[in-house]
Order: sequence, then C-alpha cells, then structure tokens
Amino acid sequence: MPGATDQYVYLQITRGVAKRDHAFPKDTAPTVFATSSPLPPIPETFATQGITAITLEDIRWKYCHIKAIALLPNILLRQEAIDRGATEAILIRDGSVTEGAASNLFIIKNNTVITPPKGPLLLPGITRDLILELAQAHGIASREAAISEGELRAADEIWLTSSTKEIMPVTTLDGVTVSGGKPGPVWVRMTALFQDYKHKLRSGTHV
Ligand SMILES: Cc1ncc(COP(=O)(O)O)c(C=O)c1O
Repeated sequence: MPGATDQYVYLQITRGVAKRDHAFPKDTAPTVFATSSPLPPIPETFATQGITAITLEDIRWKYCHIKAIALLPNILLRQEAIDRGATEAILIRDGSVTEGAASNLFIIKNNTVITPPKGPLLLPGITRDLILELAQAHGIASREAAISEGELRAADEIWLTSSTKEIMPVTTLDGVTVSGGKPGPVWVRMTALFQDYKHKLRSGTHV
C-alpha cells in the first residue's frame, strides 16, 4: 500500500468500569483498548555512535515480570537518565543488573552473549527471546546468567533491547567509554541477523 509504514500495536486491558475500589470488581467486562501507530525509524546514530546509559538503583516492585501500566518507577528512572544526558537507565538490584527502564539488557564477554535469566525481577521482552533464538540458530555462544555490576562494567559490549528500539549498543556507561566508543562486532553481526529476520518475516519467506 503506498505510504504504508511499519506500525506498532499497543494493547491495554484493564479490569473495566466499576465503582472505585482496590478490590477487583465482580462480573465487570474488561476494557480493551488498542492503538496502531507508525513505528518511528531507528535513529541512524545507534549504528554510528551508539547510546549513552547510566546505572541507577532498581527502585521498582518485585513483580517486574508483569507488564502492567503502573509504570511510575520506570518513568522516573528513564527521566533521570534523560535529565543526566543519557538515553536509558540500566537498573541494579542488590549488586546484580536487571534490565533497562524500558528495555532488556545483554552483555558480551569473550564473544558470548549473556542476559539475566527470566524471573520476577525483569520483564521477559520478546526482543530478548528473539536475540537468544537468533544466537542459537547462528552458532553464537549465549547464556542466561546473573550479571554483577562488576561484570557489566568489564563487558566487551552492552546492548539494550526492545521492540520499538531493536538493539541499542551502549557506548558510554556512567561517563566511561564501552567497546571503544562504537558498536562492537557482535552487535554488528546480531543486528544484521535481526534485520534479515525482519525482512524474511515481511516477505513471508521466514520458516
Ligand atoms: C521494563 C521493560 N523491559 C523490557 C522491555 C522490552 O520488551 P520488548 O522486547 O517486548 O519490547 C520493555 C518494553 O517496553 C520494558 O518496558
């Protein structure tokens, strides 16, 4: 279709219209709300210079695996990153890295792709799953393992992933240069695999 762009679909399901009460209302039809909007293009600077991130304490609750619309802590964390000149906040709880304010986290160490395991302390994003799938399918070593703050700072590459931003290479962390200040070689390879996957999906040739 002429002028058609990729869209992102956003779906919210709430418990429906009822008298104000904390307790779940009985026999209330849920409200289903969905929007479809043009997907903003990925900034070219991601590939040329990467992004800047800062670490912050993960101040969220203990059910971070639930994709809820109550996002106040995530919003405050992202805003603090922006106010400090960064694109994203990387969250640390009890010395371990969990994820970004609205993204999952990967590090690369000695050519192995590592991401924290699923559990109540992070959202199991679909981009995270796809990256692990692509790594496995293309012979890139990968594992799910806890990542300490020290391991984050010693990583060869750091990536933050989400459906709308795809794979963001972090090239500055807390003011310190990461992977020589440019996206690393494993990012270049994974991004090519990711784009190829999308292309095949669009053209219906994905198996
Ligand atoms: C807290 C959090 N983690 C991870 C993600 C990435 O999830 P996905 O890859 O499904 O977009 C998001 C996306 O909004 C998020 O809000």
